[in-house]
Amino acid sequence: MKRTYIKDLKDHVGQEVSISGWVDVRRDHGKLIFIDFRDMTGKVQSVALPNNKEAHETANKVRPEWVVCVTGIVNKRPERMISKNKETGEIEMNGDIEIELKKLEVLNEAETPVFDIRSDGNDINEETRLKYRYLDLRRPRAQYNIRTRHKIIKYIRDFLDTEGFTEIETPILTKSTPEGARDYVVPSRLENGKFYALPQSPQQYKQLLMVAGFEKYFQIARCFRDEDTRSDRQPEFTQMDLEMSFVNREDVMEVNEKLLIEIVAKLFPEKKIQTIPFPRITYKESMEKYNSDRPDIRIDKNNPNLLAFCWVIDFPFFEKTEDGGWTFTHNPFSAPKPEHMDKLMNKQDVGSILTTQYDVVLNGFEIGGGSIRNHNPEALKRVFEIMGYPSEQIESNFGHMLRALASGTPPHGGIAWGLDRLVTILNNESSIREVIAFAKTGEGKDLMMEAPSIIADRQLRELGIELKKKPN
Ligand code: AMO
Repeated sequence: MKRTYIKDLKDHVGQEVSISGWVDVRRDHGKLIFIDFRDMTGKVQSVALPNNKEAHETANKVRPEWVVCVTGIVNKRPERMISKNKETGEIEMNGDIEIELKKLEVLNEAETPVFDIRSDGNDINEETRLKYRYLDLRRPRAQYNIRTRHKIIKYIRDFLDTEGFTEIETPILTKSTPEGARDYVVPSRLENGKFYALPQSPQQYKQLLMVAGFEKYFQIARCFRDEDTRSDRQPEFTQMDLEMSFVNREDVMEVNEKLLIEIVAKLFPEKKIQTIPFPRITYKESMEKYNSDRPDIRIDKNNPNLLAFCWVIDFPFFEKTEDGGWTFTHNPFSAPKPEHMDKLMNKQDVGSILTTQYDVVLNGFEIGGGSIRNHNPEALKRVFEIMGYPSEQIESNFGHMLRALASGTPPHGGIAWGLDRLVTILNNESSIREVIAFAKTGEGKDLMMEAPSIIADRQLRELGIELKKKPN
């Protein structure tokens, strides 16, 4: 018999159906055995009566988390027997119907789960949750978070498609880019001693796509940064990355603001955006007033449904390094504000140059940042000169970018959102690990796969790598 999803059972009252899923809870009342079943669409209660001997015997045997195929009759439950579903999240009990078991087939048994998957998981050590993530993800809270993440991404894709953007994948095996964090590197087998780097962001590729004439690019892009992990940081994370040609700062901010407002209105109607249009705060003002460049401007911090977005603008382009030189504050590819271009070209009064950088902040978290870029190769070269890069290094690290910019490049700019952070806040979660299916620990480990791990001597030999010290 064809499978019926649990959410659709209400349309089959009085009929015999077949459902597939997991045993959620089993209550043995002696003669009557009640089993709640769960599939991706919901939960339903069933009852095994003693007159159906075979089904009753199997009902006696099954345990939570066993995978089963059930045949039974959908009955309307008398009003007084409707039990309210206490679970939180999307999965809801089909409270007013019940399945009378005719046949119960065990598709797969399950060992007793290492932890309760019906709670919100807050009572369980996080390392254990990550080690048994496939079980942890069965809890309603995780199912809700991951499915909501999908809805947000789908909304973004549809919106940007309508606005004329093309989603384009960019390489994961690439070259080290200066984005301020440490790179993850991958050794080359064919050229021993050389390494790829995993992208900290698709920054250079998206600019090259503007050179290539795509004009409006976006990507739900995986980024890799070897930095210490925090509740709002993962070594690999996802950006909603976009870039546009022939635009100024206002154009980029406008399309992003519109998209954020729509996501909230369409997917989180219970939430309220504090101020529209999003307030704009200069870096200077933000530091003076909030002592932070990602101010939490909520009027009421106790309200979980209040979303206080703001833009932070007018950041200094450069800051002093420990050894007295200059480095970029955000992105070396950014353009200065138009009225500061002369100072950049003449390398004058460097500390006072402001960039076109704009950050979007939500409830005190930086959820995105971007800028208008230097599409003039000479201006980009000045940035690297100010940072003290010798010309050979500029050529070896950025020669490809400078040549590309010199080949007819439109003015362009863009932004990247920290998608995990946005989803975390919209889902009222406190850690980005709750909205990433297979998150890593604070030490950057995947406890389930046991990564990082040692590799075979043969692999090391092929890569031309000799270890100074054998790992434990
Ligand atoms: P930036 O480095 O500011 O800009 O990154 C953009 C956004 O990504 C999020 N983010 C992170 N989220 C989780 N874990 C991390 N380790 C992590 N690091 C950053 C933040 C941040 O605002 N190429 C530029 C964007 C551009 O200019 O278009 C870039 O990557 O929310």
